Amino acid sequence: MTDAGLIYSRTAPVGVFDSGVGGLSVLTEIRQLLPNESLLYVADGGHIPYGEKTPAFIIERCLAIAGFLHGQGAKALVLACNTATAAGVVQIRQRYPDWPIVGMEPAVKPAAAATRSGVVGVLATTGTLQSAKFAALLDRFASDVCVITQPCPGLVELIETGDLASPAIRELLWRYVEPLLAEGCDTIILGCTHYPFLKPLLRQMIPDSISLIDTGAAVARQLQRLLAQSDLLATEPGGETSYWTSGSPNDFKKILPGLWQSSGSVRSLGL
Ligand code: DGL
Repeated sequence: MTDAGLIYSRTAPVGVFDSGVGGLSVLTEIRQLLPNESLLYVADGGHIPYGEKTPAFIIERCLAIAGFLHGQGAKALVLACNTATAAGVVQIRQRYPDWPIVGMEPAVKPAAAATRSGVVGVLATTGTLQSAKFAALLDRFASDVCVITQPCPGLVELIETGDLASPAIRELLWRYVEPLLAEGCDTIILGCTHYPFLKPLLRQMIPDSISLIDTGAAVARQLQRLLAQSDLLATEPGGETSYWTSGSPNDFKKILPGLWQSSGSVRSLGL
């Protein structure tokens, strides 16, 4: 399979990116489902948080990072970031029309199907919730349910410290979750890839009857489908993972083991 003169092969890696460590929650699912694949992970740590940036800025970052991963020979791209997908997936697809690309969006469809109270909460970034893509998602799948949206400024920055049980994170998370409980939500969508790391803390705050839904596993399955369609699934065991960050490689390396089983070399991304 070719795109701009590049030949994709089964042994080529899959590129995955996020503004920071959030995409590691998706990487976990990909690694579990597709152990043979080699993965190149980019954290745009020098420009985090995306959630409070303009769409134009995020589109520019998306194109720069997609260009980097394409240049590294990635046979497919996963935007492991709801905010980046909302702002930039269309532009990346336009630039690389033959490249298998998986984006992600808050799990509105499964949540609307699962709710019994008819009230669904969405925790996501300001950028995701303000996007046209999210509005279209609600129009399409949530006309029969009440959706309470809650932007969560500041949460991503706290998750990036790697301390997922600090008093500060507990306090901020409660401030965002309490209104959803007060409205009677029985299903909460984790609409940012950083938030699945807060599941243990969330479980301490909310009743067991409330479902938490995220899309990491569905993204891994979609990647598997796309690779299979193009006959690009890796067949030999031993997939490896390499990391780049536009932030501090040392900071990234320090928090990596707490969020993701595999360590490895972290390189600086000069973009
Ligand atoms: N992890 C990203 C997402 O899924 C966004 C985090 C950020 O604001 O940078 O939306």
